[in-house]
Amino acid sequence: MDAFEAQELGRLAIALAREGGELAAERRRGVIEVAATKSSAADPVTAVDREVEELLRRRIAEARPNDAILGEEGDDKPGTSGYTWVLDPIDGTVNYLYDQPAWGVSVAVCTGHPHPTEWTVVAGAVAAPALGHLWHAWQGGGAFLDGEPIRVNEVEDLEVALVATGFGYLAEQRAEQGRIFAGVIEHVRDIRRLGSCAVDLCMVADGTLDAFFESGINAWDMAAGEVIIREAGGDVSGLGGERASEKMLLAGNPVIAGKLARVVGSAGNAQSGSV
Ligand code: IPD
Ligand code: CA
Repeated sequence: MDAFEAQELGRLAIALAREGGELAAERRRGVIEVAATKSSAADPVTAVDREVEELLRRRIAEARPNDAILGEEGDDKPGTSGYTWVLDPIDGTVNYLYDQPAWGVSVAVCTGHPHPTEWTVVAGAVAAPALGHLWHAWQGGGAFLDGEPIRVNEVEDLEVALVATGFGYLAEQRAEQGRIFAGVIEHVRDIRRLGSCAVDLCMVADGTLDAFFESGINAWDMAAGEVIIREAGGDVSGLGGERASEKMLLAGNPVIAGKLARVVGSAGNAQSGSV
């Protein structure tokens, strides 16, 4: 893949995220209802999640009919080009439902098997209309917020790091995440729970946050954010420096992400009784 192709894919990711964001923002002016629930009663899908994903799928089929698609709200679509689009039509659906501003349309495209431990994310964009922002990056091109270059913060001391995290929708998973939270909070400046993993990752990239960690997130929550953080000079990994996955994702500048990994790791070990 040459630089021109990455740029072309990046420009399409921006256009898709922007158009999806405009549609969701327009629909948000009306009444938003829960259309269905997923992993638990607390895990909603609205008709707008589905409508935005359908729009994105249509646009990709028009522009790049041979690409595969992996989306939060639809079936996997196979392709022959070697590229897979990874879509989260609304990341932060609970925020969207309550009209809290931290939600975003996350669009990414990767090569390789479309799984966080195997893919290479080539380009990504996250539109957050209620925040008035759009972040984007493509491989080798740098990362941008509203067209301006961004960089992760240089903080190296965890004690003064502003960290974000998130929680899944299952009670058991949350109980474990809460115990890890309790083990981390004493080591950091503070912890934010904004409600959209995609937005959290973009905020680490632009320095609005210093670092992020969450267990149990899906490929579509992290795909665009991963390339945006990397292009902003940050690291995205799992607990032991392995690739990030559904098990755990940590992000920040390389020093702070490494320090956070140690604290999260020992909080996890302490709660499972092995330390
Ligand atoms: C959720 C958000 C949230 C994170 C959850 C995700 P959704 O995605 O990203 O911040 O904590 O793990 O499932 O359900 O709003 O698309
Ligand atoms: Ca999501």
